[in-house]
Amino acid sequence: MKNGLEDVIAAETQLSDVDGAAGRLVIRGVSLDHLVGDAYYEDAAVLLLDGLMEQPLSEEDLRRRLGQARAEIFAHVAAIDDGLLRLPPVDIMRALVARLSDAADFASALRLLAAPAVFLPAILRRKKGCEPLAPTPSLSQSADILAMLDGRRPSAEKVRALDAYLVTISDHGLNASTFASRVIASTGAGLTSSVLGAIGALKGPLHGGAPGPVLDMLDAIATQGNAKPWLADALDRGERLMGFGHRIYRVRDPRADALKSALKPLIEAGEVDRGRVELAKAVEQAALAILKERKPDRPLDVNVEFYTALLLEALGFPRDAFTGVFAIGRTVGWIAHAREQALEGRLIRPRSVYVGPMPKAA
Ligand code: COA
Repeated sequence: MKNGLEDVIAAETQLSDVDGAAGRLVIRGVSLDHLVGDAYYEDAAVLLLDGLMEQPLSEEDLRRRLGQARAEIFAHVAAIDDGLLRLPPVDIMRALVARLSDAADFASALRLLAAPAVFLPAILRRKKGCEPLAPTPSLSQSADILAMLDGRRPSAEKVRALDAYLVTISDHGLNASTFASRVIASTGAGLTSSVLGAIGALKGPLHGGAPGPVLDMLDAIATQGNAKPWLADALDRGERLMGFGHRIYRVRDPRADALKSALKPLIEAGEVDRGRVELAKAVEQAALAILKERKPDRPLDVNVEFYTALLLEALGFPRDAFTGVFAIGRTVGWIAHAREQALEGRLIRPRSVYVGPMPKAA
């Protein structure tokens, strides 16, 4: 047995390959650095889902039907009541997703792809005391999410940046939430159950809950000169530096660089606070140096969450909503894995080693 199942192979997949030594991510045969520059969210969705649904998929058809699915899903935002509004955004999203029927066909998949994208902007508006804005089915998923957030037509740079983010995080091997999705699918339960279980796994700070705390760290450090002493104090207290380290990558997480590049057009368009970016770069350098010094036996580098934090902040999402945006992007990976598991796998049922007391002999 390996604690945390480290290095244990638990599935065969054609969906994505995470090469931790080379720092490379391949999604269905396409390297992330090729995919991220060109692809819209809808392209990544077709890439991941094609062949796993009851019908062949095209980008045009998926875009059209996803727009319709967003319009249909909007009726569910009426269920956001005052009780739900007291919860964090990702928990409200989970409660709303739980209302959807639980099947495994393409129509169900489309509803689940549309649901987090419609729910999160509506939740954020309700939390600010504003009415939710209805989706515009003719827009792309990314453009519509941003439009539903603040009611304005988003700039092309912002739409491209959100596409880059959603594509970058669409799938990533057998991470904790994806594994949860596959375990649930292996029992024969529907896609809604898989996505719900996966959202639950995603929200923890060791998985998808890290980017909000990255911004808390940048705020606390505040000035470039304060980076080194602040980070040293945090490590002295036994804390982990958010946005660093990974179970698989022993080098830089390729998604960090994809997102750093996606930030550039936003910086050039004046849509990002330049001071924030400079501070982040200084913190990154200081953190890498101190982690090397303190943990010489464990290569710890930047992970996806560090630049996620800057990108999502620039797109206007509040930090407590970052895990929800992650869920918008990762749902397609969860669904693809659930379908792959259902089509090709068996019930996932490992064994445990009992280390508790035995009954006393009579
Ligand atoms: N800051 C400081 N130390 C870290 C660290 C971090 N971000 N990540 C790992 N370490 C240290 C651990 O303290 C441990 O040191 P020790 O052996 O001296 O006790 C060692 O590296 C190995 O850690 P371990 O917990 O076995 O690694 P893991 O594979 O279980 O953890 C993460 C992977 C991602 C959970 C971990 O790196 C982490 O907590 N990172 C911060 C949270 C984060 O950014 N999450 C987003 C992931 S995409």
